[in-house]
Amino acid sequence: MKDVIKIRGNHKLSGEVTVSSCKNSAVAILPAVVLASEVVKLYDVPDIEDIKVLIKLLELLGVEASKKGDCITFDSTNVKNIDLLDDDVKKLRASYYFMGALLGRFKHVKMYSPGGCNLGPRPIDLHLKGFEALGAKISQHGDVIEIDADELIGDEIYLDFASVGATINIMLAACFAKGRTTINNAAKEPEIIDLSSMLNKMGARIRGAGTSEITIDGINRLKGCIHDIIPDRIEAGTYIIAAAAVGNNVKVNNVIPQHIEALTSKLEEMGVIMQIGSDYVKVVGCNDLLATDVKTQPFPGFATDLQQPLTALMCLAKGDSHIEDTIYPERFKHCDELNKMGASIKYHKGSSTIHGGTPLTGSDITARDLRCGAALVIAGLIADGETIIHDAYHIYRGYDSIIEKLRALGADIE
Ligand code: EPU
Repeated sequence: MKDVIKIRGNHKLSGEVTVSSCKNSAVAILPAVVLASEVVKLYDVPDIEDIKVLIKLLELLGVEASKKGDCITFDSTNVKNIDLLDDDVKKLRASYYFMGALLGRFKHVKMYSPGGCNLGPRPIDLHLKGFEALGAKISQHGDVIEIDADELIGDEIYLDFASVGATINIMLAACFAKGRTTINNAAKEPEIIDLSSMLNKMGARIRGAGTSEITIDGINRLKGCIHDIIPDRIEAGTYIIAAAAVGNNVKVNNVIPQHIEALTSKLEEMGVIMQIGSDYVKVVGCNDLLATDVKTQPFPGFATDLQQPLTALMCLAKGDSHIEDTIYPERFKHCDELNKMGASIKYHKGSSTIHGGTPLTGSDITARDLRCGAALVIAGLIADGETIIHDAYHIYRGYDSIIEKLRALGADIE
């Protein structure tokens, strides 16, 4: 795959685009497959690089994966507990869900620490604290983590921060723990509900997903299931923002509007005119865009994953917009790249100020992480002239068929 995306900007987008299934659900659901003693069928798994890596890791563990049409069948009958000391583990963050899944199934895991976007420090202390509460012993040597337990026993776990990853990892490990595990101050993201509904179809006994208290009553065996993954709210938000920037009557299909209310209400405030249906958002057009302020927060607050794409739109708004990222205070590398295109953005200690209205010009820029890449694609669509985005692999990690989808809307992108 070519690692450069070229965009000739200033073309109006119109038409319809369909959002793929959710990356951050799928990357938790695939490792969960090792818990099943029967076949799991997943529909509409997004065709993105992170998923390809996870399938390779599942195959290393002895899981057979076969694709037919829009369904991937996973057969974990012969799953083995192999040490995951493969460089692929370091290509993404979500490989850490094998910790919870393998610990649950085999009571032993040895694997590399995960990789993923460099958004500043991304500790996993809360995941490890959760495993320890269930009775596991953890040792770390360099970038190798080993987790062992004679048996896992349910416990009350309070998360100091409502971490998405820690909530998911504890849920995975606790399915086979003896007795009841309670996660207090659990994350409430839709991806957690999706994983819980998949595990419950497999026979797990999880209650409360989507609230701040989740209970998991341990069982001995999980069967197979058929599951459709929810739509990707961040991909949806990215196309809605792109449409607000350069679109006219763009209908974004396969959306759960309640998942992106924080975004759509901000866009309304900025002057974007939208029609919100039961499963779509149509961006009709814009009045003069107004500056606004955004503070990222855990769900249902404004998603950190959308602050970078929104920054590109804020470059078009009259006046100064402010963004505070309380989840990842160092997630601002996109600002340097946008400034190379003519934007006027200052950032310091977890927040940025975007002085809107300065024209963007096509430039040579680099996707420094996944959502930075999404912001640069939107900026490239806005800019006059040709934009070249290097290290586009970051973008392919999370956006299914982004070139084809934007081209179908009328973008000049390759
Ligand atoms: N944190 C800790 N200790 C932990 C875990 C998290 O201090 O043990 C801190 C993190 O450093 C961060 C905050 O808590 O400051 C939030 O982390 P969280 O665990 O909620 O995030 P994550 O599970 O690492 C997932 C998504 C991210 C998304 C965040 C927040 C996946 C694979 N990743 O990360 O998605 O930004 O939740 O919603 O689900 C992306 O898709 O571009 C992406 C980065």
